[in-house]
Order: sequence, then C-alpha cells, then structure tokens
Amino acid sequence: MAIKKTTILVFGGSFDPPHSAHISMLEEAVTLIKPERVIIALTWLSPFKKEHFASFSQRRELLSIALKKCSFADICYISDFEFKRRKKTYTWQFIKHLKNKYPNSEIFFLMGSDSFVSLDKWRKSEYIKKSCKLIVAIRKGFVPKKSGALFLNKMYPPNSSTEFRERALFCDFSLLHSKVAKKIKKHGLYFADLACAMKENMSEKRFLHVANTALLSMRLAKSHGIDIKKAVISALLHDCAKELPFKKQVSLSLKLFPESLVRKISDMAPLAIHQFASAALARRKFGICDKQILKAIAWHSIGEKNPSKLGKLLFICDFASYDRRHESAKKVREIAFSSIEKAYTEVLRLKKEYIVEKGGRIATI
Ligand SMILES: [Fe+2]
Ligand SMILES: [Fe+2]
Repeated sequence: MAIKKTTILVFGGSFDPPHSAHISMLEEAVTLIKPERVIIALTWLSPFKKEHFASFSQRRELLSIALKKCSFADICYISDFEFKRRKKTYTWQFIKHLKNKYPNSEIFFLMGSDSFVSLDKWRKSEYIKKSCKLIVAIRKGFVPKKSGALFLNKMYPPNSSTEFRERALFCDFSLLHSKVAKKIKKHGLYFADLACAMKENMSEKRFLHVANTALLSMRLAKSHGIDIKKAVISALLHDCAKELPFKKQVSLSLKLFPESLVRKISDMAPLAIHQFASAALARRKFGICDKQILKAIAWHSIGEKNPSKLGKLLFICDFASYDRRHESAKKVREIAFSSIEKAYTEVLRLKKEYIVEKGGRIATI
C-alpha cells in the first residue's frame, strides 16, 4: 500500500520585516495546495545581502507575531536550521535538510517572481527544481513566462520589505500587521524610534525634509557601500535643533564645541549654527556617541575641511533631499548615485555660488 506523502509548503526569506504581502502569499498558497505543514525558512544571512536591518531573533519575533492570527497558524513553524548553523545558507542546503528530516514528503517551495526569474543563477538551481515543486507569487515588474511552476492568482507588490523600511523613515507603518508595527516601534527597529521622535518634535515641513534626507541617505549608502545605519541616523538627526530659538541653539552648541568656533559661526553664518546645536542635541537627548555621526551632523550645513565619506553623504543629502524641488537638487541626486565625490564637489560649488550671489561671506574654518 502506498503511503501518503506529507505535503510541506516552504517559504524562505529575510522577513526584514515580515509584512502583509508575505502573509497574503502564504494564505493563497495554503489555500491552493492545502499542506499538512508550513515551514518558514528564516534566513540567518541572505546570500544576496551583506547584513539585515534587524537581528535573526528580532525578525523571528516579528514573524511569530505576524503569523499568529493566520488561518494556518497551527501547522506553521519557523525553522531554526539557519540559526543553529549561524552562517549563510543556500536554498538547496535548506531543502536537502528538509528532505533528510521528512523523507516521505512532497515539498512545495513558495517564492516571489522576482526570485523565480533569476532562479537559474542560484547555487544548485537544478537540484532545487528537481527536489520541490515551485509556487510563484507574481510581483509587479517581474511577470515571468508561466511555465515550470504553479502560479498564484493575485498580483503582489515588488520588494515590500524595502518599501516598508523606506516608509518607516516617514513613520508610515501601513504595510504591517498592527502588532508587528507596535513591536517595531517599541524596540526602535528600522529607525522607527528616531523617525517618530523627529515627527513629534518638529514642524511637518521640517520633518518631511528630515525624512526625505534620510531616504536619500539610505539609498545612496546602500548603493555606495557606506554604513547604512550611520547614514540614516545622521540624516534623521541632522536638523533636530533647527527649530529651537537661536539663543538655545548657541547655548547647546557651547556644550559640545569650543566657544571661539561657536562665536565665529554664529557671527559669520548664523543660520548654520543649528548644525552644532543638532550635534549637541543628538548626543545629549538621543544618546549618540559615535564621533563620525556627530561630526557629520556638526558640519552638514557649511561643510568641513576634511570630511569623512559619511560627512560628504550628509552634506549632499541635506542639499539634494527629495523634498528639494529645484533643478540643481535633482541634478546633484543624479550625480550622487554614480559618484559621491563629484556630487560633493558640485554641492560645494553651488553653495559658494549662492552665497556670492547673495553678497554673503563664505565661512571658512
Ligand atoms: Fe540643516
Ligand atoms: Fe537639513
């Protein structure tokens, strides 16, 4: 007598963070194949990424919350396989592990069409195709030829985790289950704590500028291999003292910088004193001790003599953030995605040109 095989649905990913599209894909796949078991392969470190925004434990906690109310919650497990290995694991290795653990099983592997179109580039893709049946959720922008897999009916958004992380800079958590969003805010993941603190403490216009500066900073840091965490933190905090009264800005600045320097800037470029005040407030109120971040904030307005890459990045992003509508901002944004150095030189040139045009003095330190 033939023994009935156990049907297992596998869904892998970074889940950084898990969002509503992940859950919808799973719900649709479960309805389609009615598995006895759903296994979530949470990646320790994706073969396609250098690092994740949240740790494995944090992502596992968020996933557990997101999966709690699903129709298949009682048959769903988050695998610890990669956690125990604590190293980069390829999909074929995870499938081999499942094959050994559940020898009498039929494995369905759920993936987005963005992954499906590049499957042939994956390690041992032939083994993956032979060992499992593929289920593909079509994501906008990645509509493949419908063969070699089962296809879900709904259309899903492209890379929603990236979209979520970008929206979080604007305190927008609409792509998430409310309890997942609550946990993210509580633990300050994905910069939600800083973004929300900025939103609460400044005007709407200023906050939009700050969030747009952080968004550009996040994208440029990613594309140039600059530390994303430092880039986003410095961008979110760079104007945190800008709306304080001038006197308060000066007194804050004096807590972190020499009096001669503060006096010089407040005399030559009074509007720029907020750069020192913001660095001081970032340290005092938000506990930022990283010297690179504080230095980048402290010179984001007039620029410094020997800026670090982070300093150049913030200087560029402040000038060319997405809320700046002028043509030169657009041009600088374009240059910045190909060269930080060229964009930095261009911003310096434009700022000097503007000051000379207005008959002002260029502050030199
Ligand atoms: Fe500023
Ligand atoms: Fe700014």
